[in-house]
Amino acid sequence: MSDKVIVVTGAFGALGRAVAQRAADRGYAVAMLDYAAAPAELAGAKLVYGGVDLTKPDQTTAVMQQVRDNAGRIDALLNIAGGFTFRTLSEGDGAAWDAMYAINLKTAVNASRAALPHLIETGGAIVNVGAAGALKAGAGMGAYAAAKSGVHKLTESLADEMKGRVRVNAVLPSIIDTPQNRKDMPDADHAAWVRAEELADVMLFLASAEASAVTGALVPVVGRV
Ligand SMILES: NC(=O)c1ccc[n+]([C@@H]2O[C@H](COP(=O)([O-])OP(=O)(O)OC[C@H]3O[C@@H](n4cnc5c(N)ncnc54)[C@H](O)[C@@H]3O)[C@@H](O)[C@H]2O)c1
Repeated sequence: MSDKVIVVTGAFGALGRAVAQRAADRGYAVAMLDYAAAPAELAGAKLVYGGVDLTKPDQTTAVMQQVRDNAGRIDALLNIAGGFTFRTLSEGDGAAWDAMYAINLKTAVNASRAALPHLIETGGAIVNVGAAGALKAGAGMGAYAAAKSGVHKLTESLADEMKGRVRVNAVLPSIIDTPQNRKDMPDADHAAWVRAEELADVMLFLASAEASAVTGALVPVVGRV
């Protein structure tokens, strides 16, 4: 068993649950944070925090301190909270840009700021979730891609700032094989998509001591497409 503690944000979503499970299987203590209420099977469990809005700096700092107090240390922060919308500029309203910025970038900024003092204590790591689709944005992808591009730049900048103290990397997935994506794209080749467990393995590698020489990397994880 490891005595290491990993914090997963967006932990009740499709990727977050897969990552939390994979980390627990490897012996990490896993703190699960999400805006949603904890699902019944997790409610009341140690280190499970539902109803946390990571766009709010004060709430985020408070919950991160609770994790540190309850778990004793924080070795890694996996910033998975986020979301997607497809909205053209001509047909949509401007609100999508604010919403995507808040849910994808602000959550990662707030969680990273709140976790940094604890990660500096342990010489820990942050792993963010960007998006391969943000590298070249198609029609309707502007708001999402702009926010995820922000996550990429947060990763590079914070890695430089924290050099030698906290490693900061990001994965850039294409389409993940989730129930929602299968529902939205029933005719796609699902076998070609990135499985959540495959992405979890890359994230846990970047969070681990095996990646001790890797920081500031934006790692595409695009499956077999
Ligand atoms: N699904 C894909 O194909 C895909 C592709 C590329 C990148 N991503 C990224 O991967 C991550 C996970 O995607 P997913 O498919 O598991 O999404 P999901 O919607 O299943 O899970 C996201 C979770 O984030 C939580 N969240 C949202 N806003 C929050 C906030 N303010 N505070 C705290 N928690 C909040 C939600 O409650 C949800 O549980 C996201 O960052 C997403 O942008 C997904």
